[in-house]
Amino acid sequence: MGTEAHIILGIESSCDETAVALVTADRRILAQRIASQEEEHAPYGGVVPEIAARAHAERLAPMIDAVMADADMDLDRVDAIAATAGPGLIGGVMVGLVSAKALAMAASKPLIAVNHLEGHALSPRLADETLAFPYLLLLVSGGHCQILCVEGVGQYRRLATTIDDALGEAFDKTAKILGLGYPGGPAVERLAREGDAKAVPLPRPLKGSKEPHFSFAGLKSAVLRAHESGDHKAADIAASFQQAAVDCLIDRLEKAIGEAGPFPALVVAGGVAANQTVRGALEDLAQRHTMRFTAPPLALCTDNAAMIAWAGSERLTLEPDFTGDPLDFKARPRWPLDPEAEAVRGAGVKA
Ligand code: KG4
Ligand code: ZN
Repeated sequence: MGTEAHIILGIESSCDETAVALVTADRRILAQRIASQEEEHAPYGGVVPEIAARAHAERLAPMIDAVMADADMDLDRVDAIAATAGPGLIGGVMVGLVSAKALAMAASKPLIAVNHLEGHALSPRLADETLAFPYLLLLVSGGHCQILCVEGVGQYRRLATTIDDALGEAFDKTAKILGLGYPGGPAVERLAREGDAKAVPLPRPLKGSKEPHFSFAGLKSAVLRAHESGDHKAADIAASFQQAAVDCLIDRLEKAIGEAGPFPALVVAGGVAANQTVRGALEDLAQRHTMRFTAPPLALCTDNAAMIAWAGSERLTLEPDFTGDPLDFKARPRWPLDPEAEAVRGAGVKA
């Protein structure tokens, strides 16, 4: 085990995607499947934890079977079983983690309990073998908005987080206000293309602040007021919101680079990294600071199991003699990547 070519089975079930993947140490994704629960949650305008847990419980076992068949793989040839053990919606996390424990026990393979955020943080290295440590990471998802210095596998320094809403959450709430449905990020981005980003005056919370953190709750309230005023087209509100959010990201990253930098590379990960306006602005920022810019391909940005398998693989490469996390490893609703970072009110539990 822990050889160059080890094979990891990865399981992800922390939010509304059930996903399974087989990934090798040399960055080959042998097979992967993903089932979104969008349809189940859409009527509620957000993820309902109980519905999510039940859907994971129904889908996961047949999906593991299917992924193994897709790759013509049997459990004996797999070197370890990696599963998201948190942070996330606890019912779903338990479904994935318990399944991984059962497989690990039955096949006498090591269990690797993966922090979902670490999956996002290391995913750019799955896509790009030349990306070396350290790098500056903007992690922007439905539950998190953080700036991290990724110093190595298992070594993360949090430089900033949100004091209220995550950025993906702000996109989702904006979509809800504008009646665009769930999930909101892609819908807001689409509508924003038809709007004028300067049309609606919106705040840039904490821009220029001495604090390193993000805040998006005030922006969301301003979107609601702009919508209720009836003075603006939905497309203009979407475009102006997106621009305000991007301005906040860039301002906070400038601060982080000024204080903790320079860094050789800027990396973006998490669901909001799928947003082209966000990517474009980050690319410009990186260029201004002569940093290299990397973003994983879209399929690796949103929740997936390849990133979980890959995080397991990185761990095994680092510790070839690792015998596995204990079978009583607890599912964790909260699990900060940087244990030293002070707790900040409002930072979400989803990733
Ligand atoms: O990382 P992720 O797949 O799941 C978790 O949050 O765990 O991120 C999902 C978030 C959602 O809030 C979604 O609206 C947002 O990422 N998102 C986007 C885009 N695609 C997904 N936000 C803005 N623009 C997008 N194109
Ligand atoms: Zn995520």
